[in-house]
Amino acid sequence: MYRTHTCGELRLEHVGQTVTLSGWVQRSRDKGFMMWLDLRDRYGITQLIFDENKSTKELFELARSLGREFVVQIKGEVIERVSKNDKIPTGDIEIQVAELTVLNQSKLPPFTIDDDTDGGDDLRMQYRYLDLRRKPVQQNIIFRSNLAIEARKHLAGEGFIEVETPFLIKSTPEGARDFVVPSRMNEGQFYALPQSPQTFKQLLMVSGLDKYFQIVKCFRDEDLRADRQPEFTQIDCEMAFVTQEDILNTFEGLTKHLFKSVINVTLADFPRMNYDEAMRLYGSDKPDIRFGMQFVELNDLAKGHGFGVFDNAELIVGICAEGQAANFSNKDIKKLTEWMQRPQIGAKGLVYIKLEEGGTIRSSIGKFYTDEQLKTWADKFGAKEGDMLLILSGEEEKTRKQLNELRLEMGNRMGLRDPKVFKPLWVVDFPLLEWDEDSERFHAMHHPFTSPKKADVDRMLSGDHETMKSLRADAYDLVINGVEIGGGSIRIHDRALQSRNFDLLGFTKEEAEAQFGFLMGAFEYGAPPHGGIAFGFDRLCAVMNGVNSIRDFIAFPKNNQGRDMMIDAPSIIDQEQLDELRLRLVDIKK
Ligand code: AMO
Repeated sequence: MYRTHTCGELRLEHVGQTVTLSGWVQRSRDKGFMMWLDLRDRYGITQLIFDENKSTKELFELARSLGREFVVQIKGEVIERVSKNDKIPTGDIEIQVAELTVLNQSKLPPFTIDDDTDGGDDLRMQYRYLDLRRKPVQQNIIFRSNLAIEARKHLAGEGFIEVETPFLIKSTPEGARDFVVPSRMNEGQFYALPQSPQTFKQLLMVSGLDKYFQIVKCFRDEDLRADRQPEFTQIDCEMAFVTQEDILNTFEGLTKHLFKSVINVTLADFPRMNYDEAMRLYGSDKPDIRFGMQFVELNDLAKGHGFGVFDNAELIVGICAEGQAANFSNKDIKKLTEWMQRPQIGAKGLVYIKLEEGGTIRSSIGKFYTDEQLKTWADKFGAKEGDMLLILSGEEEKTRKQLNELRLEMGNRMGLRDPKVFKPLWVVDFPLLEWDEDSERFHAMHHPFTSPKKADVDRMLSGDHETMKSLRADAYDLVINGVEIGGGSIRIHDRALQSRNFDLLGFTKEEAEAQFGFLMGAFEYGAPPHGGIAFGFDRLCAVMNGVNSIRDFIAFPKNNQGRDMMIDAPSIIDQEQLDELRLRLVDIKK
């Protein structure tokens, strides 16, 4: 038997017992005639004591020879510690070691296996199996496991069936590029890895499975960011005979259950905001509503006073940073302006109005507007003395996006984005189609299987180009703390409407048939009305822990270049493999 107990469970009540423990050597302290070792496993740390006077010379020397991360087994008696450590649960006891077996040696690890390690990102990615020995990283993986188990329990309790769908499929357009896999048996042909199981889950509804879910890997070849990995996990769900209302209620229930059962947070009912309102008030379809600072439009007050920048702007819009007038010197404002002018944001400038205590108004546009006029602006914001208004202008869509960045930045600086506070909301009524100027084509805002709102179906079937821009979809996103956690829609279940949608998206009849004939064919065999949603599981883990990076919650993540640093993938393959697949590489730079 390797162990009678774990390294996290012994307490005062065990004093006097003989126990066997196994684990890794965390650190040792050598006082000459006495030695202490910290033994670590997944459950905690237990202190071992070696006393020269109470043990054999061999045992004492063996203990002294152990290095960090050696794997050992010990047998000994639990004794009460003289100096207790209230920082760890086992801090009242230690083990007087009588037997010590080295189960395996370890090279000196390239970074310390501590909560605060000295290892840099790359090194930790390369030795991820060692990084995973660290408690905070292990806790994230355990958190993820708990969340998945609770999701399964809850969904099973609601009558959902978990179904696995294939990974080697035909491309499903979700807006990103596919990862493709060459087929040896079908020369010149490729599978695509699923960007999501979208079409399969719809087919399961045609099959009558009624409520489907799957905790499933999805693959998207897109540019990576803190909240994006090339392979990530969804809690993917679909239901038949449901309206949007049914879906929002079901998955609000799931979200509340996960927060309560895993982090003991009770969420209030989720507010709903339509897409247009989200864009108007926050300049974003994923607003962080932990704080207000809503946009206020100033076109009516600011235009026509000789300030060319505003006179020529499509939109003049600002936010009020409460109590910040005294916190921003001219230099700070200059820096903030430069931050806004970086290419990532691209603002042309930033106008400020400080409503100083005592009534003085200081502004970068004082030449063009009287104090009285600026006061009416302040009133529109509901601003008071001590506040600062920050205003942008320009082309409407761009300006809103830029002000969204500024709002989030000010929220950060003002400490309004508390990671322990959770504010979910549903964003609903997304546009069905988006016009893309570059390709001069419509794109599906969610995906091509999303249904227009019932009231918009006739307009979609017969309307002109401009009408298409105004169509609304039964599509919704779950947003928590400014992060898009999930997205879904009611689907088209009618062949003619699906066909019209492909048509609008620029597919020829033949292309649509070749790519999605199987789905449209299925719609001819009694497809029920259906809809669903997918949660970004990695993102949900990160948001619930108040962090931005989903990498921390993935056991073996990829870096920003899409590389697995540990196994060194992707990599070149043998000529033999290439030949077998009938692939020839052209102009590869070694
Ligand atoms: P969507 O494309 O909105 O919808 O994806 C659902 C959720 O998955 C998460 N997500 C990601 N997480 C990490 N890395 C990525 N690269 C990544 N891409 C997306 C997001 C997102 O909200 N088939 C539809 C769902 C449906 O209509 O039912 C779909 O995949 O949190």
